[in-house]
Amino acid sequence: MAYSVKVLDHYENPRNVGSFTKEEEGVATGMVGAPACGDVMKLQIKVGKDGIIEDARFKTYGCGSAIASSSLVTEWVKGKSLDEALAIKNTQIAEELALPPVKIHCSILAEDAIKAAVADYRKKQAE
Ligand code: FES
Ligand code: FES
Repeated sequence: MAYSVKVLDHYENPRNVGSFTKEEEGVATGMVGAPACGDVMKLQIKVGKDGIIEDARFKTYGCGSAIASSSLVTEWVKGKSLDEALAIKNTQIAEELALPPVKIHCSILAEDAIKAAVADYRKKQAE
């Protein structure tokens, strides 16, 4: 299958790969898996005292579309509030990357990863 130019760009030059150390303040982690294919995505956000996402990192064990989707969302969540990040829809990711129908679940993985990371952050704040 042919990947779109944007998928290839994010795949070959992924943004924000890696992870934060757990000790860093404001760090939360979302780990999700795609039942359809077994791929796994780990997304971390680093939230400032003002509640704005300052930075993000990802590690994805999966296909090019999953890697591109996670790379893209690390860019998109930066500078956003948690609620704004939660508003990111997989359809926007799929549209931006021109994902074909069989790769839509890869973008869903990225949306789910954001939701999981925000939930983890809120849980930690509540503790
Ligand atoms: Fe997920 Fe191919 S099915 S990488
Ligand atoms: Fe399953 Fe991309 S995440 S094929």
